[in-house]
Amino acid sequence: MSAPNIAIDLQQINVTFKRNNENLVALDNVSLQVEKGSIYGIIGYSGAGKSTLVRIINLLQRPDAGSVNILGQDLLSLRDKELRGVRKKIGMIFQHFNLLRSRTVLNNVAYPLLNQKMSRTKRHAKALALLKLVGLAEYAQAYPDELSGGQKQRVAIARALANDPDVLISDEATSALDPQTTEDILQLLKQLNESLGLTIVLITHEMQVIKSICQNVAVMENGQIIEQGSVGELFTNPKKALTQKFVESAANVTEMRQQISDDQLIEKLQRNERLLYLRFSSEVTSEAVISALAIKYGVSASILFANVQKVAQLSLGYMLIVLTASNEHFETILHYLISVGVIVTDFTTGEERVYAS
Ligand SMILES: Nc1ncnc2c1ncn2[C@@H]1O[C@H](COP(=O)(O)OP(=O)(O)OP(=O)(O)O)[C@@H](O)[C@H]1O
Ligand SMILES: [Mg+2]
Repeated sequence: MSAPNIAIDLQQINVTFKRNNENLVALDNVSLQVEKGSIYGIIGYSGAGKSTLVRIINLLQRPDAGSVNILGQDLLSLRDKELRGVRKKIGMIFQHFNLLRSRTVLNNVAYPLLNQKMSRTKRHAKALALLKLVGLAEYAQAYPDELSGGQKQRVAIARALANDPDVLISDEATSALDPQTTEDILQLLKQLNESLGLTIVLITHEMQVIKSICQNVAVMENGQIIEQGSVGELFTNPKKALTQKFVESAANVTEMRQQISDDQLIEKLQRNERLLYLRFSSEVTSEAVISALAIKYGVSASILFANVQKVAQLSLGYMLIVLTASNEHFETILHYLISVGVIVTDFTTGEERVYAS
């Protein structure tokens, strides 16, 4: 039994596929707990096992080993009929919407209700109410082909809500959309999470999506969850290289790193110049760091790149500077920076050296 506040409790899940007589481990001892009413993000590159993992949640994929407890029920012990009941409580939306082209928007939303004992009038009323909820009531009689991508996704969301699910799974549901439409859909999901108390599991390969609406996040690589925690924790203190890469991509630091090599910045450094990458959270600001270096240590630093990203009520700062200081002086400055909570990466030698408290 899992705790009553847990909507999804997967323990030690293994899934192996056979391909050309070879075993492919798609999920390797994965455990995941999602609190009721929360928005949980799963991020990873293509092939990491994200879709396989969420297919475990409604047993579209059966695990070779492990336990699957959803909304307080042990799914692996259920009979088909009971399983169908639980599945209704889990809505899903996908990248490619999967709408029925020959049916109106209203009938697409009403579709999952067809096998229920419900009058046509009631079914249509419910579908219309759902379309209102996603802001598309006036498109009820339109056909999917007449809608934009964002509107199609709204219809798909309304359809996923037809059976009043407790859990909504979104598998790359925004990856075919432009950034503004993505943000609109994410805000809609957040609003549904808040107004309906819906638990949402959201798969993505973009950290921006996680940053925008998730409270917790799991990073997947090669069939494993390599790191998980609150979004705030993961952004402030990413432990694994891949997590750091995702975090940096959300602050355009990835481009900055590329620029360092494109512009041959390391090769161009003068004697006593150092190329430093500074990372810091809320208590510190770029201005404070630069002015402290000038006032306390009499050194000037030129800023090549600076950015701040706000996530989970935190401000995270990223700065690339060229600092002119002798070796000894640099040691003192380094100590100071670390003591105020700055994480310093020294690029000067060509290999990255990280200094942190
Ligand atoms: N039904 C299947 N039969 C065989 N192999 C499969 C099957 N489903 C998935 N795989 C393999 O399992 C691995 C994980 O696939 P999965 O679809 O879970 O990745 P993903 O993280 O969702 O990737 P993407 O971001 O591209 O959607 C991949 O190597 C994939 O080829
Ligand atoms: Mg996938």
